[in-house]
Amino acid sequence: MGDPIPSPNIWNDPDVYEVENHAVDRSERIEAAMLGHRPIQDATVLDLGCGSGFHLERWVDYGATAVIGCEPHTPLAQRARARVATLDPHKQQRISVVEAGAEDLPVPDRSVDVMHARWAYFFGSGCEPGLAELDRIMAPGGVAFVIDNDVSVPSTFGRWFTTAYPAYDAEATERFWRRVGWEREVVGITWELDSRQDLEAVVRIEFPGPAAEEILASHDGLVVDYSVVLRTRRY
Ligand SMILES: C[S@@+](CC[C@H](N)C(=O)[O-])C[C@H]1O[C@@H](n2cnc3c(N)ncnc32)[C@H](O)[C@@H]1O
Repeated sequence: MGDPIPSPNIWNDPDVYEVENHAVDRSERIEAAMLGHRPIQDATVLDLGCGSGFHLERWVDYGATAVIGCEPHTPLAQRARARVATLDPHKQQRISVVEAGAEDLPVPDRSVDVMHARWAYFFGSGCEPGLAELDRIMAPGGVAFVIDNDVSVPSTFGRWFTTAYPAYDAEATERFWRRVGWEREVVGITWELDSRQDLEAVVRIEFPGPAAEEILASHDGLVVDYSVVLRTRRY
């Protein structure tokens, strides 16, 4: 397995990242957009870069018959397994967690109906080995989904992101995905935090120190509008 690309937010602060996951897209608009492409009912779902496994139970709730959580960072794969062990047995038996990266998946050829990779910064320019693995493992009629930040449509989160990370080249990212032939659609979601304390904690793991403090000084309220891109490829 190649070295995973570090993800400081969830690697260093998995408990705060859990708070963030509870805040993101509470009305599940991302899942609604996915269902516009393919049912999850009766599917084998691969959640690639599943982190601590936050979404694994969700795919069972949407009717998946088998769910594979794939995560290369050992402490997070352990967290994902521990989370699954707390679920009802009928859910547990449908979910497995494997420790692997996108470039070398321990998954049979043509066996995955739905691939979900959320906040999958490891899919971008240079990720061709991972895309080649998808060509191998996706079943005919399967759909792969990559979800990430969008800055093409104005949003509060997008403004924070482009200000805090001026070196991020959104156009180069789009050029890459066009070149490899994936489609894109924008989905408008929100962060909805339960308290100011939670908002502060989450902003501080997502943005560098000075930028985080500027964001917090400028933002009242517990809701943040957020534009994401759902990238899709049908196999
Ligand atoms: C920002 S986190 C998102 C985790 C999860 N999808 C979620 O929404 O809670 C990105 C995850 O990708 C994992 N990752 C890093 N490099 C990877 C690779 N080459 N293949 C698969 N996953 C990778 C990281 O360890 C991290 O858990």
